[in-house]
Amino acid sequence: MRDLFLLDPDVVFLNHGSFGACPRPVFERYQAWQLELEREPVDFILNRLHGLLAEARAALAAYMGAAPDDLTFVQNATTGVNMAARSLDLQPGDEVLATGLEYGACDLAWEAICARAGARYVRAEMSLPVEDVVEQLFARQTDRTRVVFASHITSETGVLLPIEEIVRRARGAGLVTIVDGAHAPGHVPLDLEALGADFYSGNCHKWLSAPKGAGFLHVRPEHQERVEGPIVSWGHANASTFISRTEEQGTRDAAAYLTVPAAIAFQQEHMSEEVRARCVEACREARRDLCTLLGSEPIAPEEMVLHMASVRLPDGAGETLGRTLFEEHGIEIPVMRPQKDLLRISIALYTTRDDVDRLLDALPRALATVASVRA
Ligand SMILES: Cc1ncc(COP(=O)(O)O)c(C=O)c1O
Repeated sequence: MRDLFLLDPDVVFLNHGSFGACPRPVFERYQAWQLELEREPVDFILNRLHGLLAEARAALAAYMGAAPDDLTFVQNATTGVNMAARSLDLQPGDEVLATGLEYGACDLAWEAICARAGARYVRAEMSLPVEDVVEQLFARQTDRTRVVFASHITSETGVLLPIEEIVRRARGAGLVTIVDGAHAPGHVPLDLEALGADFYSGNCHKWLSAPKGAGFLHVRPEHQERVEGPIVSWGHANASTFISRTEEQGTRDAAAYLTVPAAIAFQQEHMSEEVRARCVEACREARRDLCTLLGSEPIAPEEMVLHMASVRLPDGAGETLGRTLFEEHGIEIPVMRPQKDLLRISIALYTTRDDVDRLLDALPRALATVASVRA
């Protein structure tokens, strides 16, 4: 599988989670769209693009169990979260409740949007190991809570949250639900209609292996008329719709969006249920081996681990570990959290046991290097 990807063969690439990796045939489709645009930009943008985007949206919607006109393409999941948050009519004193496991940029977006409205962003802090997420989250609910925000799969800790339960409970309490699904498409099977979240923002450029810049925002119909695009442009003219406002965003390269059907086709061809199960088992095995090597306890129950696993590092070791692994051992793997105490491994379609063994072999030496530099 590795030959089907464009990744540098000299790097052991264990960080699919940060920005994904695009397979060669998908990337070629992406470049073909760009060439087609440049051959006749006027006809492409003015006459064809709307229909082409509708086709791409329909393919993505079918893949995720959604109605095509309930979702719109956005550059990335962070954009979608911003758009959802801005569409809410937050009032002074309102509270937005989130897990303490959210992605830093989304925390920043919520802080800024809440500050402008005089609202409060409440993070339910969660210590490791990750457990009882639903109880810990709703323990922070008050009569001022209006919105619940949670990741489907978390960034730093890399775990699958019980998102169905979080959405059910929040909606049952009359709260607006916004899900950050940045890591979900291609990572877990999705049925957005069944999940029923008010807003679901996701990426196709991570685990669906689309080119960078392919995200989406899914919005339940009752909220769509308040959602605007990141900028006001022609799509806001008379009789504007959710799709027109969010899709017509000035001149831009829509090739990444148009390539999403090719990414889905690649995924469906190569990521069978059997292959997915093998990746998940390989990830859980890697986590067990890393915990044993590092002498650390798992940070979450095994059933919360799918294609990513974070393990706890010895105190102080994380500061320069990522750079040491990359520069001295050719291994790309992220050290997570501001306190740099978690190492997160990704197991993608192309990851082999040999890649994991290279990490297990290098890690003690890299830790020794980091310790000697600190001493
Ligand atoms: C949970 C989560 N949300 C949002 C993002 C941001 O994704 P993007 O930069 O594509 O918006 C990430 C990126 O890793 C993430 O892990």
